Amino acid sequence: MKLWGGRFTKPTNELVDEYTASIHFDQKLAVYDIQGSLAHVEMLKVCGIVSEEDADVITAGLRVVGDKIAAGEAVLSEENEDIHMNIEKLLIDEIGSVGGKLHTGRSRNDQVALDMRLYLREALVTISQLLLDLQKALHKQAEANLETVLPGYTHLQRAQPVLFAHHMMAYVYMFQRDIERLSDSWKRVNQSPLGAGALAGTTFPIDRQYVADKLRFEGICENSLDAVSDRDFVVEFLANASLVSTHLSRLCEELVQWSSAEFNFIELDDAFCTGSSMMPQKKNPDVAELVRGKTGRVYGHLMGMLTTLKGLPLAYNKDMQEDKEGMFDTVETLKGALALFAPMIETMEVKADNMYEAVAKDYSNATDLADYLVGKGMAFRESHAVVGQAVLYAINQQKFLLDLSLDEFQRFSSLIEKDIYEVLAPKAVVDARNVAGGTAQNRVEEQIASAKQLFQMS
Ligand code: ARG
Repeated sequence: MKLWGGRFTKPTNELVDEYTASIHFDQKLAVYDIQGSLAHVEMLKVCGIVSEEDADVITAGLRVVGDKIAAGEAVLSEENEDIHMNIEKLLIDEIGSVGGKLHTGRSRNDQVALDMRLYLREALVTISQLLLDLQKALHKQAEANLETVLPGYTHLQRAQPVLFAHHMMAYVYMFQRDIERLSDSWKRVNQSPLGAGALAGTTFPIDRQYVADKLRFEGICENSLDAVSDRDFVVEFLANASLVSTHLSRLCEELVQWSSAEFNFIELDDAFCTGSSMMPQKKNPDVAELVRGKTGRVYGHLMGMLTTLKGLPLAYNKDMQEDKEGMFDTVETLKGALALFAPMIETMEVKADNMYEAVAKDYSNATDLADYLVGKGMAFRESHAVVGQAVLYAINQQKFLLDLSLDEFQRFSSLIEKDIYEVLAPKAVVDARNVAGGTAQNRVEEQIASAKQLFQMS
């Protein structure tokens, strides 16, 4: 007989059991469900709603059930639909009908919202920690590459040289914003919905704050209808996770490009690459590609959740059971990607000579020639046109700017003198961008130092 079977005259159609059950995925919530129940029963005891004796039996029983589930010894059944009813059923099997007192003043609706929040709290801590590990790996590469110059791109065309350290630090700041977003969401996740009952509260003189304190929530959801209907915290997490995925995916794309023979800027460690079943020479950046690919499922879960919630009347609706798989999968997807990413970045070989070559054999110092002429009094718009002509000339001569003789330079402007050769050298070009946040070595060193302080804070 079902826990709610009283008003029914027939058993549930088997296909309905199968269709409505969530036990095959919500069993992930077992530990949180037990945690919540332990706090709830203690509150029932303290408030005199359940006798001390009964509460102690229930507490002990819950611990046994928890241990059995953890050891894989408990049978979780579809017939009991979800993790909440499975646990209640196991408890009653364990300690008898007194187990039936656990659900006093509670509904699965506030219970499931509680479990989701407990689960997400833990996931937020784990993911933030993994993001910090990745930041540290990027930071290390930055420190090791303070003199490594590579082309910076716009439109994927070589634009102006930058330090590889600068490029790595750009990602450190992206992931910093991600960590901040996750940590800001904490205060909204960390509110206890328990005590909202099915939707309207409960007739029992419960103490919601007691449960909230016990479970280390910052406060309680103040409106019972909102408490059981709200899945904003899931959407917010999925949105934040989507941005983490965006950042990872952009970095992946760069790793894939950089490890191609065409770029040949980096080599990922063998331990983080895979081969081809047919082509013996292949070494593929599969991890980076797959992390990039999995961005799709994370975005999908965000869209899925938003769409599920759209148009739902208050309060709980069974539709909301669809909140779980996307959230679990997103947490697992991020954990999997981030755990691999930090060591993959740390072990990446940076081919500084090839990067330098790509800068030296190019025209990405053209802006510096234009700026030089501005320094001599020419208007920027004019110097832009003059340098455009010089670049066109050099291209036709199959030369780079630094290959031009002073005579040749002076054909374009008599303002050009022989100090131009120092001005246009790759490292000088980088170091000339000596503005706060710029790519000059001393400015990148500032970023590296300030990021170190961020790490110590978190
Ligand atoms: N398994 C359900 C869910 O995940 C738990 C809440 C069900 N409540 C109900 N009244 N059917 O949403």
